[in-house]
Amino acid sequence: MTEGYRSPETWAGNISASAILHSLPDAVLVTDLQARITYFNRAAEKITGFRGHEAQGMYCKDVLKSGLCETECAVKRALDSDQNIFNIETTITTATGETIPALVSASLIKDSAGKLVGYLYAFRDILPFKKIMSDLEVSRAKLAERNAELDMAIEELKMTQGQLLQAQKMESLGTLAGGIAHDFNNILTGILGFASLIRTKIPADSPIARYVMQIERSAVRAAELTSMILTFARRGRFEIKTADLNEIVLEVLQILGRTTDRSIKIGHILSPKPCYVDIDSAKMEQVVMNICVNAVEAMPNGGKLTIKTEVSFYSFDGMEKKLPHQPADGKYVRLSVIDTGGGMDGETRQRIFDPFFTTKGESGGTGLGLAMVYGVINEFNGYIEVESTPGAGTAFSVFLPISKSPSEAEKIEEQEKAPDVPKGKGETILLVDDESIIRELGKDALEQLGYNVFVAEDGLAALDLYEKHRDKIDLVILDLIMPNLGGKETFERLRQINPDIKVVISTGYAKDGVLEPLLDKKANGFIKKPYKIQNMARVVRSAIGSTY
Ligand SMILES: Nc1ncnc2c1ncn2[C@@H]1O[C@H](COP(=O)(O)OP(=O)(O)O)[C@@H](O)[C@H]1O
Ligand SMILES: [Mg+2]
Repeated sequence: MTEGYRSPETWAGNISASAILHSLPDAVLVTDLQARITYFNRAAEKITGFRGHEAQGMYCKDVLKSGLCETECAVKRALDSDQNIFNIETTITTATGETIPALVSASLIKDSAGKLVGYLYAFRDILPFKKIMSDLEVSRAKLAERNAELDMAIEELKMTQGQLLQAQKMESLGTLAGGIAHDFNNILTGILGFASLIRTKIPADSPIARYVMQIERSAVRAAELTSMILTFARRGRFEIKTADLNEIVLEVLQILGRTTDRSIKIGHILSPKPCYVDIDSAKMEQVVMNICVNAVEAMPNGGKLTIKTEVSFYSFDGMEKKLPHQPADGKYVRLSVIDTGGGMDGETRQRIFDPFFTTKGESGGTGLGLAMVYGVINEFNGYIEVESTPGAGTAFSVFLPISKSPSEAEKIEEQEKAPDVPKGKGETILLVDDESIIRELGKDALEQLGYNVFVAEDGLAALDLYEKHRDKIDLVILDLIMPNLGGKETFERLRQINPDIKVVISTGYAKDGVLEPLLDKKANGFIKKPYKIQNMARVVRSAIGSTY
């Protein structure tokens, strides 16, 4: 016992017990054994809205109107069976009908002889506390929401990082590939060009014609591989035009029909209406081909390959994330390639678009097919969806936004039906290329078509020749990438000599931004190497005929 302690009798001597009870911030009421109120302090008045003299003699339950009082007073019952009542949460309805939350404690009052004489209730309004709690709850919920948002942001960041890594991988591969592609294309142009020249020199039924065709075919295949590398590395030149996807599928079906083992049944369900999309048809054909070849390769023991096209409005909400980015809802052409092959597990599926990822170790997969598909579909603003179950086959779906200009496509089709291999009428052409094989081939081919040809091995020689023969020269075919004086500078200087000069640009590939400004400056045409002679003939003819 501490020294300053005074017994209640002592301090109550100075301050009355009732004064203390009245100034208590908690409500206190006392009842007799019948639960009729005998005492009511100020705080009790304040909380319940009853004045003390009104409450006096009323049953406790009529004043508190608490959930606890509903039948027999739960407090009394608890106390009678000797159970503590301490801080029970309940509600009280006040005199004005307002319901407020309250904490109630209660105890027995005994006289000095230990006889039960009444009950004591203490209660407090916990509305402010409740408010704090509910504010807290709101804050907590907001916090949880923020956390979820953060988690999502992190998830997205991770995805972006993954995409960035992928993009970087593509970029460095592109640099590598771009370096060799130029030389490679020149070599192929030689092979392809001379092979077609041989073919024009021998009768079609000669046995040699078959060999030559094989050479051509191999060279075309090699050119396709080069262009595949360039394509996924986004170095290739994309010629986006409106085209009917059905036609591309039909072409692929033809090739597949010829080359696929009979154990694989090939079926197709094509949309009856044309599926116009804005694509580079050659690239898209490679895409379809690559997906189909994978499907065929997934069915070494035979199976069924189905190609479908359909046009529909697609909503991608709630579907699994698509590559390369989350698609917008809209009208799409959907191409599906479905096989009954071995399928893929989740881990494989995660990596299939990585350049050089292949599970075809021994049979020599390149791992480039789907990387190329990815690059191209990205370029066409499309999406890819892959569904696969190990052992039960795979379905690749490519979604391409439907073209807004189908009438354009019809016009293009008309143009493409135009007659082939237009001949020259004795015009003179200056062919500029640093590769001797291309100069030789080009000279031979152009002469056969009925042109006169000058050749130059670089820009300086070309300028020299042009100054000497400018009155005779009707067209310049200009390689873009050459030593000494590059194609771009040569082009500019030639135009200084003659602003009306006609120039066709020829190159293996064009990086974005190199070719376009040149075409802006009115180059009259463009030939992509390696070129077929028919293409060259057409471009040259239309350039000479053009009137800029
Ligand atoms: N239809 C398919 N069924 C099963 N696996 C497939 C299918 N298509 C692609 N894959 C998987 O994706 C990988 C990568 O394909 P791709 O890039 O074309 O390279 P490659 O065919 O040279 O292996 C394949 O090695 C294979 O594991
Ligand atoms: Mg493949």
